[in-house]
Amino acid sequence: MQALTPYELLGGEAMLRRLVSRFYQIMDEDPVALEVRRMHPQDLSESEEKLFMFLSGWLGGPSLYMEKYGHPRLRARHMPFAIDDFGRDQWMHCMRRAMDELPIEPELKKKLDEALWNTADFMRNR
Ligand code: HEM
Repeated sequence: MQALTPYELLGGEAMLRRLVSRFYQIMDEDPVALEVRRMHPQDLSESEEKLFMFLSGWLGGPSLYMEKYGHPRLRARHMPFAIDDFGRDQWMHCMRRAMDELPIEPELKKKLDEALWNTADFMRNR
């Protein structure tokens, strides 16, 4: 039997959509994330769709972002935004709150947290 991907362990498209949707709602509402919220467009729906598509492939599910936009070049795409330790931590704060609200196995949550933190840290450019 093949090992399940993180995408499948999380609960596939339905759970990933819930995660990303809560992530941006939290970013929109939580004053802790004010600076990172201000870097984003007023309407977050496109950001949400892009993050959903990206994470789908990143977690081992369908490579939706790649199919539509090509290679993510994630670090380069974040260069226009001044991302420092605080920005990284604000982004992670929203993601952690969103993950905490969903029924995710503790072991998977720990792995996702580590991998997302590393990716967010890699986006730092200031
Ligand atoms: C695990 C870490 C992260 C992932 C996976 C991620 C993913 C993405 C993706 C896929 C996009 C859309 C790129 C595009 O096609 O235009 C994006 C845009 C963006 N990201 Fe991130 N990001 C991460 C961390 C961060 C951090 C730490 C910040 C700021 C503190 C940030 C701020 C932004 C902003 C401002 C945009 C532009 C939004 C828009 O134009 O809709 N990201 N990110």
